[in-house]
Amino acid sequence: MRKIKIAPSLLSADFSCLGEEIRKVEKAGADMLHIDIMDGHFVPNITIGPVVVKHIRKVTKLPLDVHLMIEDPQKYADAFVRAGSDMITMHIETITVTGFRQQAARLKKKGIKVGISLNPATPLAKIKRVLPFADFVLVMSVNPGFSGQAFIPAAILKIKKLRAVFDKDIAVDGGINESTAREAVRAGANVLAAGSFIFAAKNKRSAIERIRNAR
Ligand code: DX5
Ligand code: ZN
Repeated sequence: MRKIKIAPSLLSADFSCLGEEIRKVEKAGADMLHIDIMDGHFVPNITIGPVVVKHIRKVTKLPLDVHLMIEDPQKYADAFVRAGSDMITMHIETITVTGFRQQAARLKKKGIKVGISLNPATPLAKIKRVLPFADFVLVMSVNPGFSGQAFIPAAILKIKKLRAVFDKDIAVDGGINESTAREAVRAGANVLAAGSFIFAAKNKRSAIERIRNAR
C-alpha cells in the first residue's frame, strides 16, 4: 500500500500569523505544504507571489509544494524555485506538451519535482502525452480559485483511470474531508491537499490523522 501524504493548503491559513499556522501543521504531522499561487487571470482570485514563498521557506523544513494557477507558468517558475520551492505544479490548460517537457527537464536538473494538474472539466486525455515527464499529477476536485468548495465527484473516476496507467504520486486537491479522502484514496490517490478541513480544525493533528487514515 502506498504511503498517504498530507499537504495542508495554506490558502485556508490565517495569513496574519502565517508562521505560526505553518508551525502548527508541521507539528501536527504535515508531509509538505501546499501553496496556491493565483494570478487573477487563470483563476478569478489573486493570492501570493515569490516574496511570500521566500519567507515561508525560512520558517519550515517541510517540502514546499507550489501549485501554479497562473496564465504563464513558464515565465514565473524560476522565481518560485529561487524562492525555495521543492515541487512545482503547472496546469495543462496553461502549457503545451512541448513546453511542459522542456520545463520538466530543466527544473528536474535543479532537483525540483514537477507536477501536472488538470481542471475538473479537462479530460484525462489532455495530460496523456505529458505523463512520462511528470513526477506527479494533481487532480483538481474543485474548480481552482477558492478554498472551501465542495468536492466534485467526477474526480473519483478520473483518479481511478489515471491510477491504471500512472504509477507515481497522484494528488487530489479541493473539497477533501474524511469521506472524500476515503473515496479518493480508494480510487488510487496517495497525496491529499486539504485546506479548510485542516485549518478549520482546532485539533490539527487529529484532522490530519483522520484524512490520512481514511481508506
Ligand atoms: C483551490 C486550491 C486548493 C484549495 C483547497 O483552487 O488549489 O488547494 O486551497 O482548499 P479546500 O481543501 O478548502 O477545498
Ligand atoms: Zn491547490
